[in-house]
Amino acid sequence: MKEQGYKVAVVGATGAVGNQLLSVLEQRSFPVREIVLLASGRSAGRTLTFRGEEHPVQELTESSFDGVEVGLFSAGGSISAKFAPIAAQAGCVVIDNTAHFRMDPDVPLVVPEVNPQAIAGYTKKNIIANPNCSTIQMLVVLKPIHDEAKIERVVVSTYQAVSGTGKDALEEMLVQSRLMACGIEWTKEDSVERLLEGMAPYKKMATSVYPHRIAFECLPHIDVFLENDYTKEEMKMVWETGKILDPAIRVTATTVRVPSFFGHSEAVNVETEREITATRAREILNSAPGVTVLDDPKRNLYPLTALAMGAYGTFVGRIRRDESVDHGLNMWIVSDNILKGAALNAVEIAEILVDKYL
Ligand code: A2P
Repeated sequence: MKEQGYKVAVVGATGAVGNQLLSVLEQRSFPVREIVLLASGRSAGRTLTFRGEEHPVQELTESSFDGVEVGLFSAGGSISAKFAPIAAQAGCVVIDNTAHFRMDPDVPLVVPEVNPQAIAGYTKKNIIANPNCSTIQMLVVLKPIHDEAKIERVVVSTYQAVSGTGKDALEEMLVQSRLMACGIEWTKEDSVERLLEGMAPYKKMATSVYPHRIAFECLPHIDVFLENDYTKEEMKMVWETGKILDPAIRVTATTVRVPSFFGHSEAVNVETEREITATRAREILNSAPGVTVLDDPKRNLYPLTALAMGAYGTFVGRIRRDESVDHGLNMWIVSDNILKGAALNAVEIAEILVDKYL
């Protein structure tokens, strides 16, 4: 590690993840010598605070990466597709938060608690990929179980917050929820009656980010639909688990966008080769890096997004035997999708990168 620190660029600095990247870099005292904040031309002229000082946001251009040593990208797949190779060519190591490079065999895909050794492969393209938010939190918990009992199959259903889509989606849900809650002058007395009548005025609410209203709704649709009728988000969980943890594990996923602002939740069912009891799973997860077990049903204690929000850990609870198979467990996994699911994981990768390789 260089004593004087590194010149670090944040691409998409004004976005939901970019914003948290700055906080995490600051909170973890990442060795930043100089920070470069990049976004679209729309944001040029704005300033953002980093370590108590205002820094200008600059428009991302091909010459933005002069002297930049570490680039944290979170401005969408097409921006990474174009600008990550330009940055890499200029000598910057890119840590990319989009899906664009994740399955490239020459690009490491890393969850530091699971496969930190893969970072060494960054030299092939000067790019490291940050996995999908839902994959990260699932694998942080599944890795110690896999080591102990060898996972053969995973069935996962996700309940994913709107912040994962970005700031425009947050705004869309806020506007829709306000309209639904306060849009017409319901009195306390007749509100439930009118709700039961079917909320007719809201059935055709305007949407722009999602294909349907997200407020008070669950959308079984994240990212685009593929030929096999799964969504790309679902297949990311399948593909990325293979690349990061073990290609022999069979995974099937249903990913759902739910009307919560921050924090992804997952119902995860695993089948293992060897027997593992719920008690043993709790025991090994209690000492696993990055994992906090919250599992006391008698006290109504289990992971919630409200507990996970703003926290660095991944939370697991509701651990119980799947009584329908020989060796199976069910569990509920929750994490802050913008932190461990994105910004924190990226900064943890950057920490290992500078510590061991730069
Ligand atoms: P801007 O705020 O200028 O639009 P989110 O994921 O929360 O939607 O944020 C997306 C991030 O990506 C924002 O920082 C946004 O900047 C940035 N971005 C979007 N389009 C571009 C672009 N063409 N060039 C650079 N940054 C972009």
